[in-house]
Amino acid sequence: MTKERTLSIIKPDATGKNHIGEIISTFEKNGLRIVACKMTHLKQQEAEGFYAVHKERPFFKDLVGFMMTGPVLIMVLEGENAVAKNRELMGATDPKKAKVESPQSIRARFADTIDENAVHGSDSLENAKIEINYFFKPEEICERTR
Ligand code: CMP
Repeated sequence: MTKERTLSIIKPDATGKNHIGEIISTFEKNGLRIVACKMTHLKQQEAEGFYAVHKERPFFKDLVGFMMTGPVLIMVLEGENAVAKNRELMGATDPKKAKVESPQSIRARFADTIDENAVHGSDSLENAKIEINYFFKPEEICERTR
């Protein structure tokens, strides 16, 4: 087991429905620790840059538009196997699938559509490093001291 860091975003649908606390509680109860956190309303350039990997996909424009519809909570999560653990807690990208495969997952509990699916989580350790660097300076990440 290795300690890792991953990026999590609570998306505008979930912040709008007031689910921030329940989602964070799910992370904490399952061994993930918040070591950096900011709430912001993404600008178009920030959302496009973050999702640049999807820019050729048909859903790119709608995805960027949705991510600007309200505030997001962006976090760095730390823990053993944090990347895979976070993906497991989130459930499938499509909440309809998540509701069947993992009814206790975040997307099963708090999302209804693939376009508005409550949370984002890095899909690999390599991408986690890129995504964390995109939103946080090294000095904004708090080392655990106790
Ligand atoms: P996320 O994990 O934030 O990464 C990209 C997002 O694109 C994804 O969650 C979905 O919310 C959204 N999306 C919309 N349509 C699709 C699709 N067909 N496949 C994958 N992601 C999609």
